[in-house]
Amino acid sequence: MEQLLIKKKEIVSAFLKHNILVNRELLERLNQPHIVDEWHQAITQGKNPKELIEKKQETTGVRIIWEYDDKPKKRTVQDFVDYFNARYRQIQKLLTSRQDLQNLTSISRLRSKKDSEKISIIGIIQDKGTTKNEHIMLTLEDTTGTIKVLVRKSAQDLMNTAKDLVFDEVIGVSGSVGDNIIFADSIVIPDIPIQQMKSSPDEVYACVLSCVHVGSGGFEHEKFNNFIQWTQGEFGTPEQRAVASKLKYMFICGDIVDGVGIYPSQEKELSIPDIREQYKECARLLSQVPKHITMIICPGNHDVGRISEPQPKFLKEYASPMYDIPNAILVCNPCLVNIHASDNFPGFDVLMYHGYSFDDYSECVPSIKHSGTHISDRAALVMRFLLQRRHLAPQHSSTLYIPDPRYDPLVIERVPDLFFAGHIHKAGTLNHRSCTLIAGSCFQAKTDFQEKVGHDPEPGVVPCINLKTRNVAFMRF
Ligand SMILES: [Fe+2]
Repeated sequence: MEQLLIKKKEIVSAFLKHNILVNRELLERLNQPHIVDEWHQAITQGKNPKELIEKKQETTGVRIIWEYDDKPKKRTVQDFVDYFNARYRQIQKLLTSRQDLQNLTSISRLRSKKDSEKISIIGIIQDKGTTKNEHIMLTLEDTTGTIKVLVRKSAQDLMNTAKDLVFDEVIGVSGSVGDNIIFADSIVIPDIPIQQMKSSPDEVYACVLSCVHVGSGGFEHEKFNNFIQWTQGEFGTPEQRAVASKLKYMFICGDIVDGVGIYPSQEKELSIPDIREQYKECARLLSQVPKHITMIICPGNHDVGRISEPQPKFLKEYASPMYDIPNAILVCNPCLVNIHASDNFPGFDVLMYHGYSFDDYSECVPSIKHSGTHISDRAALVMRFLLQRRHLAPQHSSTLYIPDPRYDPLVIERVPDLFFAGHIHKAGTLNHRSCTLIAGSCFQAKTDFQEKVGHDPEPGVVPCINLKTRNVAFMRF
């Protein structure tokens, strides 16, 4: 026992020496004596510890780039202040290099500027309102102070951009200085850069699922069984089977079970009333997915555990059968992973997010709300909106979140090649610059709640992306 502890300590110090983050997952792997022996032997033989943890990547083609690993703790008001300051700094960094933000200055320095002088500032939106003359008045804040920004009604394009702005997002503004006010000429949102879309050297597919809701009375058994059979090459038209034969990655973006106690009287609508049994059944179903397909699975707001984002992986205490699926990689929500890298291809960076914040933006952003689409068809529009903001839930009220004082984990710092989500129960896709956005649908029939609020889910639709052509096909089961 003592020997094992010494070995463990030596492994951890070797990891630290090579700047490897010793996270919870790594420590869990070190709870297995055979891994301790294997790794210790490799390290004493002079092997680089990085090779040990990347072993999984070699076999699955999946590497976790970013996941959140922080112990729960009591949060203070100061944490919220620091959190928003951190968000400001992170997005400020993305905006500072923008050509369209000339004569960039801080808000406190505006006092020394001449009347009508042209300047730019970067600020977080503290307030937004409409004046009695129907101009839009923003209040922007940076680390040095606050300032009012007027967007004139006559500037139509600028007004349209301003109408879509939400509280707490970070933007750049260029304009001229007035008396304690800026008259805006342009508004700059961070967005992602224009760059070429990557394509895989070989033809391989990834599919996107969300909201399986195992355990719900409305779980679509037949559709899900058809889907599983399709992954095995046993279901579908010859064209669909051809896609299945090249399927290598399956992303499941949360709500894999229906959960327990998620909303009032949910127990009346459950076919499996016990949360552990729900995960057991889910794991039984997913275990039938062929082993050459790697599943990457994150939780959603129906899953067990803390739902504040970043949401940790499924709690092992309740969802242990999920951990026994050999071809499943369980991740937190959101998460950034790289897939399909090879010696001559960097792979695709995939941002995965359940999408709890989407409801808010599909209603409060005028260009999305009035896009002529039904509320259930807006997921991809919301995803584009958030990618442009470089934040998964900028508005304070749009999701529950951890106010980490060190950095804002919901800022989209690294530009993803693929952005996968769900939550809305209807599949959708669009390309924005170099990124393909895909919302998965669900495997749950329309619930009474959805009927009441006018949602129109489309269960059993699975979007599949050809990573060579970047075309997305919708498979119906
Ligand atoms: Fe959800």
